[in-house]
Amino acid sequence: MAKGFISSSQLDNITAKLDIAEVISEYVALKKSGKNFKALCPFHEEKTPSFVVNPEKQIFHCFGCGIGGNAIKFLMLVENISFPQAAALAAKKAGISIDISGYRPEDEEKQEKLIKANEFASQCYQEALFSQQGKRAAEYLSGRNLTEKEISRFSIGFAPNMRDCLLKKISEEKLDKDSFIKAGLINGEGTSDVFRNRIMFPIFDFRGKITGFGGRALDDEHMPKYLNTGENAVFSKGKLLYGLNWAKQAVKEKDFVFIVEGYFDVIRMHINGIENCVAPMGTSLTDMHLRFLKRFTEKILLVFDSDEAGIRASLRNLESVVSKGFETKISMLPAGFDPDRFIDEYGIDAFRKMMEKSVDFLDFVLSIESQRHDINTPKGKSSVAREIMRIISAIPDEIEKTEYIKILSKKLGLKESVIENYLHYTAQEPGSSIKPENKISSPDTYAESLLLEILLSGGEYWTPFLEWNGYLSRRMEIVARTSKELLMNNIDITPANLISNVDEDTGRWISGTSLKETVRENGRKQQIFQDCLKKIHKSCISRQVDEIKKTINEKKDTGIPYNDEVEKIQGLLFELKKE
Ligand code: GTP
Ligand code: MN
Repeated sequence: MAKGFISSSQLDNITAKLDIAEVISEYVALKKSGKNFKALCPFHEEKTPSFVVNPEKQIFHCFGCGIGGNAIKFLMLVENISFPQAAALAAKKAGISIDISGYRPEDEEKQEKLIKANEFASQCYQEALFSQQGKRAAEYLSGRNLTEKEISRFSIGFAPNMRDCLLKKISEEKLDKDSFIKAGLINGEGTSDVFRNRIMFPIFDFRGKITGFGGRALDDEHMPKYLNTGENAVFSKGKLLYGLNWAKQAVKEKDFVFIVEGYFDVIRMHINGIENCVAPMGTSLTDMHLRFLKRFTEKILLVFDSDEAGIRASLRNLESVVSKGFETKISMLPAGFDPDRFIDEYGIDAFRKMMEKSVDFLDFVLSIESQRHDINTPKGKSSVAREIMRIISAIPDEIEKTEYIKILSKKLGLKESVIENYLHYTAQEPGSSIKPENKISSPDTYAESLLLEILLSGGEYWTPFLEWNGYLSRRMEIVARTSKELLMNNIDITPANLISNVDEDTGRWISGTSLKETVRENGRKQQIFQDCLKKIHKSCISRQVDEIKKTINEKKDTGIPYNDEVEKIQGLLFELKKE
């Protein structure tokens, strides 16, 4: 079987022991709906759920974007991992031990090496902080009101002001320098440490593995203020959110997330019991950040400093957040304050009160824009309307969009129809590269799907199908070949087992078709089954006829004899006329 190291009976065993609803519910909030579960699709933007999980058939399918498959497929997509990795993960969840060393993909091993290097370095940095070398850094941190216990809780460390502090430890322990170079901890030549004289914040992925560091300069004149690990196989600023490993549970429970700007802010809030809090690392929120956050919540509270830079940053983030369908609120702190400084100065209760005064994004933009333009002049009002409509245009949900237009029209004293003119529809967002499901179906794809539906509806049609000796379409060929293989291996032909063994497109087609709820009386089923087979047979012939006609024309043009083709066509046309 084409899947390499894992036999299909092993796969069958894994999927049989797993409950797909349980697997998916770790990532998506599932709601019971009849015998299925429904949810918002994690793979495309939507506001009404079209993502269906069927525990009986052990498959999922999104009727919005067409994606579908079994539990393993889901894990591949959601974790962005390869088939063997997903199978291994699924096996683990199912409590089955399979030997994964044989097919463990190289990149996973590489990633683990980088993480090991980071964890070793983090250990060294933490030791250094509490040693003589780290005296100034420790003083600095205590000056910022962090206790030793808190410093350890967030694994904060210090990279001493030496060329080869980490380097020495690496050779003492006889570790492989290469991983440290690749992890961005040692320079490319392998001759010196990258981080020096910096307070080191390890940056964890959401599982709690150290992927890199943010190093804060100890002296203000030392530039840059923060030095981050360079992008590598495990560290990517556009994906990682600082604090998510500690925050994820609270984000789910509270059903919203605070987004702040800095490491110190996240830490200060956590220390004070606000755990649903994360920060991007000096960059704007990316589509990847937001897509990932969607796993945990659909509500965001952006917290920003009210200086010009803070406002600009929040406006920039606002548009991406709104366009991803998040319910968005904003909280502005007085100019010159970030959450860390604010809490330090006024205490956590004052901070919480401040957060309670957060405003809806519309009110926020309205107040910012009315400061920038004179709303009492026609020109000013027009500019304000235009700016706000730019953001409203990004809201994916049409009903919400209309509601916001209503609110805005009231606030500005303008007719809805007038401000609606400012709506601009952007082309499909980048990032949502998922193909919409093919809505146009030709008569023969209809026959194919109908046939598949009948096959999947009960066991009795597989034998006549596999014995059928007419032509089959390409997708039906795949289904026939795969089901034969399953039978030979004594594995039940179920949608989930078929999907494990076919390509992605065919898999989507199978998951979608098997969830169709068309009820057909059994008496007519036999007839429909036969008709579909014939229909598919005939359209395959017609296609071949067309092909051969093309060849004949080409040969005609170049003066090559085409007797063979004529003979073939005659045979095919005869076949087509039968019955
Ligand atoms: P303190 O000023 O020590 O309180 O740190 P802070 O976290 O409040 O820093 P600041 O508000 O200046 O910046 C917010 C975040 O932006 C930081 O936590 C970093 O993630 C990032 N950042 C700030 N300055 C730099 C820089 O010079 N380089 C990089 N790569 N990131 C930076
Ligand atoms: Mn700060």
